[in-house]
Order: sequence, then C-alpha cells, then structure tokens
Amino acid sequence: MLKISASILSADFSSLKDEIKKLEKTKKIDLIHFDLMDGHFVPNLTFGPLIIKSLRDKTNLPFEAHLMLEGPEHYFQALKEARVETVIIQIETVLHLKRVFNLMKSYNFKVGAALNPSTPISFLEYILEDLDLILIMTVDPGFPAQEFIKSMLIKIEKVKNLIKQSKKKILIEIDGGINYKTAPLAVEKGAEILVIGSNILNSGNYKKAVQKILKNIDA
Ligand code: DX5
Ligand code: ZN
Repeated sequence: MLKISASILSADFSSLKDEIKKLEKTKKIDLIHFDLMDGHFVPNLTFGPLIIKSLRDKTNLPFEAHLMLEGPEHYFQALKEARVETVIIQIETVLHLKRVFNLMKSYNFKVGAALNPSTPISFLEYILEDLDLILIMTVDPGFPAQEFIKSMLIKIEKVKNLIKQSKKKILIEIDGGINYKTAPLAVEKGAEILVIGSNILNSGNYKKAVQKILKNIDA
C-alpha cells in the first residue's frame, strides 16, 4: 500500500513539535522523514539525532532518517537512541557498503540505500540482498522545493524491474519535487513510498494538500 513520508525540512523549525502533531492529525501521513545534512556531501546543514530524539515521544508515527552526510556509521548509535526505525544512507558516501549495512542490521534498522539522480542503478547489483528499501532521489539532494527530474521516472521503472527479477521484497521510495502532478507518474512506475516536504508544509492546509495528491493517484 502506498505510503506518505512527510519531510519536515520545510517545517517551521521553531515549532517542530507542533508541526509533527499537525502532520499526524491529518491521518494521511505514515512516516516522518528527517533529512540530516552535514555541509559536505550536500551544501546545507540541518539537524542531528538529538533533535530527532527530543521529538520521538511527541508522535506515534514511525521515524526515518535520510543521511545526506559523510561517515553515516558515526550516527547509528545516536539514531538508535532516538528510536529511528529506518535509516537511509546515500550510497555515494560509503566505500565499504557491506560493512556499513551489517552495522545497520546489528542495530535492527530497516536498511535503506539512497541514490542520487546521476548514480546509475548498476550500483545496486551487488547490494540488493542487504536492502529493505531503495530511495531514488528525484532531485539533487540538499534543498527542499526543487523541480522533479523527469528522467527519474525511467529510473524508477528500471529499479522496479530489478527488484522483480531479484524476487526480493524491497520497497521503492522517492524523494524530491513530489506534488499532485508528479506523484501519480511516479506511482505508476512503481514508487511505493512518497517523501513529500514543501508541497504539504508550504500549503496552508496540510490535510487538503495530502488529499489532493492522493486523489490524483486514485484517479
Ligand atoms: C532533499 C531532501 C528531501 C526534501 C524534499 O534533499 O532529501 O527530503 O525535503 O523536499 P520537497 O518535497 O520540497 O522536494
Ligand atoms: Zn530526504
């Protein structure tokens, strides 16, 4: 079943607790998506595990952390303490992936691998067995409210086929530029979790914004 993961990158950072509660109240959001950035892998800075931890008991929604940073393994312990369920690393940041995936599993995280738009899907060939989900970046990571890269639709389709062939149960998540126009196109190609930030959080009405997206997908 299709899931919506709300990225709080576009939230009012002075009221994160209230923002998350507002998202939960829509009853249309399945996950809260935290974008962690270090100013190296991407030219932006956000928040770390301590802030996530401070928000953990404010909602029952599961948390996922998208690590757009170098040395992701240094943050696993703190993310565990913040009770994050899913950890998604950018595969471009890690040289020894097997070792890092094993470490993620030792923490009982759901293991996610994110690919930049320009990263070829051949990168996935030898790591599929370790993954619970593949996050296809549909914009270059680092900032909210960018335009969806149309050629990612073919990539989603190709990844879907790759997963089918492997006969493994791996979810496809997409992130960046998702709105009521791009969501249906991506879902048609095989996207199962939609990370949505600005389209919900910059709208005056969170519930209406999600409903508009979902309605377009059903149509
Ligand atoms: C971008 C982040 C996204 C971002 C998406 O680097 O990974 O999660 O918040 O924002 P929108 O939905 O505004 O493109
Ligand atoms: Zn993200």
